Amino acid sequence: MIDFNNVSKVYGNGTKALNDVSLHVDRGEFVFVVGASGAGKSTFLKMIMREEVPTSGSIVIDGINLNEMKARQVPYYRRKLGIVFQDFRIIPTKNVYENVAFAMHVIGATQKDISRRVAYALSLVGLTAKAKCMPCELSGGEQQRVALARALVNRADIIIADEPTGNIDPEMSKEIVDLLNQINMNDKTTIIMVTHAVDLIKQYDKRIIKISNGSIISDSEHPEIEEEHSEEFSDEPMTAFSGFYHAPNEDAEIEDFISTYGVEITEEMTIEDSASDKKAASANGDDTASDSE
Ligand SMILES: Nc1ncnc2c1ncn2[C@@H]1O[C@H](COP(=O)(O)OP(=O)(O)OP(=O)(O)O)[C@@H](O)[C@H]1O
Ligand SMILES: [Mg+2]
Repeated sequence: MIDFNNVSKVYGNGTKALNDVSLHVDRGEFVFVVGASGAGKSTFLKMIMREEVPTSGSIVIDGINLNEMKARQVPYYRRKLGIVFQDFRIIPTKNVYENVAFAMHVIGATQKDISRRVAYALSLVGLTAKAKCMPCELSGGEQQRVALARALVNRADIIIADEPTGNIDPEMSKEIVDLLNQINMNDKTTIIMVTHAVDLIKQYDKRIIKISNGSIISDSEHPEIEEEHSEEFSDEPMTAFSGFYHAPNEDAEIEDFISTYGVEITEEMTIEDSASDKKAASANGDDTASDSE
């Protein structure tokens, strides 16, 4: 599913962020990526997202060589991915339903498909009853569940999460990882989650890859790597969590989302139609069986 072959990344300013990284992740695996601040974790995810390209080495995702991908193909490629960030990045002026529906609008999904899939995604993350709530009315954990619903609504093959629990308290963090676990098991979705929450991930029996100074220094699937590195596995300081909602810049969130996933948008992007489907969708909230592949 994910293959890194001797990948190195040197940023324009000379910073060496990744150094000769090779790894293989199977379809359906759940992998935690840990490491100190500046280790290269986000760079690693950005390479999978094709937001950054390797300075040397190659990356093949689901048989697609990202080195050879043309810029106009990137938004199509990203439809394979569901992306979740530490700061949620949901749109503050759209309600829960509209936030998730928006992800389908930007890829030109039909209204019927949108109603069914959004209802399914919201029921999966346990937010059917909050479909009409605005983000400012939700807890941090609930906002992150909206982001998770949005990430999976387009049937992503891979969910990439960059510190998804970094801004929520430990109890809600466990809920988020439990949900990712459930998505991983239900749909065989491959999950790559970067985190500082070492105590949290110890509770799960998952593959853990540790990056230090741009190199993989341990991988629970490959104990032989650890022998090459003497560094002790230590708990990293967790990014401070704020515990309350920061209203982001709405236009920037929308533009960012469209530039990531949206292509060939001919009509003005609105979500009015989907909003009017809300009632039908929540009435259909248990429409999971036929739609869970
Ligand atoms: N766009 C960029 N230009 C130049 N240097 C960068 C850029 N992005 C990241 N870096 C540098 O690359 C290194 C790896 O950064 P990265 O963001 O991957 O770290 P990280 O492991 O995600 O850290 P954190 O835990 O703080 O999020 C750091 O030294 C960082 O300063
Ligand atoms: Mg990072």
